Amino acid sequence: MGNKASENSAALAARFYTDPRVAELETTHVFASSWQLVGHESDLPRPGARIIAPIAGREVLVVRTEDGGLAAHLNVCRHRGSRLVAAPEPEGKAIRCPYHGWTYKLDGSLVGAPESRTIPCLDKPKLGLFPVRVESFLGLLFANLDPNAVPLHEQVPGLADLIGRYLGSDLEPVGRYRIQDTATEAQDANWKVVVDNYLEGYHVPVAHPGLMRLLDYQRYTATIEKSYVYFEVPIRDKPSSNWLERLYQRFASPMPGLRPDDHRMWRYVVIYPNTLIDLYPDHIIAWSVTPLGVARSGLPGAFYAKPGTSWRTRLAQRLNIKIGWITNDEDAELVARVQKGIATPGWSPGPLSQREAAVGWFADRIRADLAAPPAPMEAAPTLEKAPQGEAR
Ligand code: FES
Ligand SMILES: [Fe+2]
Repeated sequence: MGNKASENSAALAARFYTDPRVAELETTHVFASSWQLVGHESDLPRPGARIIAPIAGREVLVVRTEDGGLAAHLNVCRHRGSRLVAAPEPEGKAIRCPYHGWTYKLDGSLVGAPESRTIPCLDKPKLGLFPVRVESFLGLLFANLDPNAVPLHEQVPGLADLIGRYLGSDLEPVGRYRIQDTATEAQDANWKVVVDNYLEGYHVPVAHPGLMRLLDYQRYTATIEKSYVYFEVPIRDKPSSNWLERLYQRFASPMPGLRPDDHRMWRYVVIYPNTLIDLYPDHIIAWSVTPLGVARSGLPGAFYAKPGTSWRTRLAQRLNIKIGWITNDEDAELVARVQKGIATPGWSPGPLSQREAAVGWFADRIRADLAAPPAPMEAAPTLEKAPQGEAR
C-alpha cells in the first residue's frame, strides 16, 4: 500500500459529522480561529453603523468607526456583562450599555460610567471592549477571534486576482437577504456535509438535472490551493429543453467590470473553512455555512450586483436566482439524506472520486485543525488591542 501522489485523501469518518464532542472541538479549533464572513461594506454605510455576528458561541459587534474604518468587539459590556447591542439598533457615535449606561467609543474604548466617582477602581484604559480582528477582503467583511490570525488576504494568495473584478466595496445588495439574517436558510445536516456537497460536482449528473442541461459538466474544473478552492464551469451553448434555463442562456450577460470570458462562465470559491462565494456573470452570492447543532446548519448569505448592471443582466439575474433556488432545494434534500445515512452505526466512508478531490482537501484541513493545539483565541481579558480594521 504505497501512498501515491495520485491517491485522493480519505473522506472524514462518520463521527466527524455526528459526534457532539467533535462539534465542540470545532468551536475552538475551527470557528474561533478562522476568518468568518460577517457582512459586506454596504452593511456599514456610515460611522456608527453596526452589525452583530455569531461566531463560535460569542456575539461579535462590527462597527464603522468615526474615521470610516472598521472595528470589532465582543458584544458584551465590561461592567457586569450585559449584551450591548441587540439588532436592529440605531446608529450612533457611541455604544451605550442598556443596563447601567457605561459608554464606549466606536473603537471600543470606555468613555465613562454614570456616577463614576462611586466606582473606586474604574481604570478606564483597561476597561475597553474586548477586541476582535476584522478585515475587509474585496469589500466582504470578515472577523476572527484569534488575535494572532494571519490576515485573510495573506491566507488566500492569488484569490484577489482570480475573483476581484466580481467583488468590491461598491457592490449593491439584490433582494432582502442579508448575511446577518442567520436564520434565513437552514439545512438538516452537519455544516461539513453542506460544505462537502458544495465542494464537488460529481453529484451534478445524478442530482441536478437542470444544471446538467445548463452547464458543460465535462469542463467542470476545481483548482485546489492551500486555503481555498476555485471552481469554473461553462454555460452550455446548446439551448436547454427547460424554458427557464433556456431564457437564462439567452439573457445571460455580464455585469460591468467583468471580462468577455466571464460571460458564459459560472465560477465559485470556497475559502476554508466555511465561506462560499458564487460568481455568476449576472450576480454574486456571498454566504457561509454555520453550525446550528450537530445535524443542522444555517446558510446566511446575500446576493449582490455591480453598480450600473443593465436591465438585460438584471433579467438574467432573476432567472438565475430562480434556478439557484431549485438547485438549493435539491442540495438541501441531498445533505439531509447524507446526514441520515452516515449516522448508521458501522458505516465508514468509501473512496473519493477525482472529481471529489476538494472534499479530500477539506477533510485534510479539518483533521489537521482538530489535531492541532487550539489557538489562544479566548479574547480573554487581554488588555492590548489586536490590530484593527486591516484593509485590503
Ligand atoms: S452591565 Fe453594562 S453598564 Fe452595567
Ligand atoms: Fe449540488
